[in-house]
Amino acid sequence: MTTDPTPTPDHATTTPAGAASTPGTPAAKSMDAIMALCKRRGFIYQASEIYGGINGFWDYGPLGAQLKKNLRDAWWQDMVLRPCWGRSGPNGKPVRCVPVETCIIQHPRVWEASGHVAGFNDPMVDDKQTKQRFRADHLFGLFARPQSSGGQGHFEIPKVTIVASTVGEAVERLVSEKPLRKIFNVRDVGHSSGASGTVQADLGGGMHHWHVEAVRWNQLDEAALQEVPSPFTGKRGSLTSPRQFNLMFKTYTGATATEDDKVYMRPETAQGIFVQFKNVIDTTRVKVPFGIANTGKSFRNEVTPRNFTFRSREFEQAELEFFCHPDESVDWYRFWRDFRMEWWKSVGLAGDNLVLREHDKDELSHYSQGTSDVEYRFPFTAPGFGELEGIAHRGNFDLTQHQRHSGAKLEYNDTERGEPLPNGQRRGERYLPHCIEPAAGLDRGVLALLCEAYTVDPSRASPEFLKLHPRLAPIKAAVFPLVAKDGMPEIAEKLHADLCERFWRAGAIELDEKQSIGKRYARMDEAGCPFCFTIDGDTLKDQSVTIRERDTGEQHRIAIDAVSGFLTDKLGG
Ligand code: GAP
Repeated sequence: MTTDPTPTPDHATTTPAGAASTPGTPAAKSMDAIMALCKRRGFIYQASEIYGGINGFWDYGPLGAQLKKNLRDAWWQDMVLRPCWGRSGPNGKPVRCVPVETCIIQHPRVWEASGHVAGFNDPMVDDKQTKQRFRADHLFGLFARPQSSGGQGHFEIPKVTIVASTVGEAVERLVSEKPLRKIFNVRDVGHSSGASGTVQADLGGGMHHWHVEAVRWNQLDEAALQEVPSPFTGKRGSLTSPRQFNLMFKTYTGATATEDDKVYMRPETAQGIFVQFKNVIDTTRVKVPFGIANTGKSFRNEVTPRNFTFRSREFEQAELEFFCHPDESVDWYRFWRDFRMEWWKSVGLAGDNLVLREHDKDELSHYSQGTSDVEYRFPFTAPGFGELEGIAHRGNFDLTQHQRHSGAKLEYNDTERGEPLPNGQRRGERYLPHCIEPAAGLDRGVLALLCEAYTVDPSRASPEFLKLHPRLAPIKAAVFPLVAKDGMPEIAEKLHADLCERFWRAGAIELDEKQSIGKRYARMDEAGCPFCFTIDGDTLKDQSVTIRERDTGEQHRIAIDAVSGFLTDKLGG
């Protein structure tokens, strides 16, 4: 998605029909199992769970809060403190970025200027009977045609509709969910991939191979919409026509709560940057090109929050607006697009599950010269992808809008440009800088890290584990006395205290004496802890400890004095 206030469906691209998902990719991973592990180990809980939960809101438990903080810190370190790992930008100079922290509630006119009040809408459809509501572009009709037709033929009214985020999800659900399979009389699933699947089914007239295809509602004509069955009851004619629904949460300032006091919870952190652009220029020594970073909670009253934390109503963003001269903007756009893809790889998302998707020309806003999405193949989007971050060339759209609506002069006086003067200086050039916007979602980032890290290996004593990158892992190391006697607990406590002293900034160091050593390893594996150190009988003789590595399960010994150096090598710092 772009910052364009008119939301478009999250792009979920699909692999070509016939490309099957391979074991080990998230496609083969069960989202239910990942969610269960997240609950079991204290990564993510349903918000207000003891009251039955609240749709679209999630809390982070102890491990999840630290994991998310580590992701936010990694972003902050690599975008603000040492942008782009110290690399030079396309102008050959070090990249410079400064942070701001802006309010969730801004003057309501900010959102008029940005276009969100008028245009941040989703098309919404209601089921008149059940009163359930969903996004029109999330309605899929499922069509089945005999394979003998060669996949050709006219679409009839769908027999079944479902609400799903992506085409891949729609077909996956048809072939995996019992009630749907029952409606289709699916006896045997052939395969499914992307927008289509092959199932062996009896749809009247005996068993045949059917080609099943999911088609987004907006590809059906208006008449067909009136005819389609409800995704909830199967009843025809019970869906309303789509209505536009503004996604911004509204609230009131002050005690009177009249319409004049109405304010909005920000739907993105970006606008806080634009409205403080002039203050940052006037109060610091930054010069264009430079970036302003902002992280924090954003709120969107999503019509259909779904897929765990992927589409929530409260979520956290990490956004940068990089201001540059219009002539250099395309180079900076390419620079940020490539860096952001590399960055996501550096925190552990690599291989075929991560793609950079350049938007087609006809998807771009009129002011944009390019937009790309970093997309991840989540288990619920597989074999397609879901957006993690958008990198947009926004031109000077936002500064122009705020200048016009506020009356403030937001032009930048670039004293390094313009014609040379006799005194060796330049006349200066006034312009509204162009903006490149890498806009990441931290909750989707955490979700992608968890999905990527989640590994099942039935041959291990701990068949489920999280291969989190050591930089992100919420527990960096654990220390175990093999048994709670013979002085082992004391040695373990001392090693634990030493490591805490040395590594407290990076995450937790655990000390665990309970249960068998196998169970303790399994617990740490599920928490994504990369290294365990065990104090055993040999420690008493030769001051060595066993290191057990999470990813391989391998064990080897090192001197107890070398543990801190070992962790420094592995974790940095
Ligand atoms: N200022 C640009 C902007 O907000 P966006 O594509 O709408 O662009 C940026 O949002 C990122 O924020 C997305 O790539 C996604 O990671 C995250 N995001 C957006 N809506 C979200 C939601 N409802 N739940 C969780 N994350 C969301």
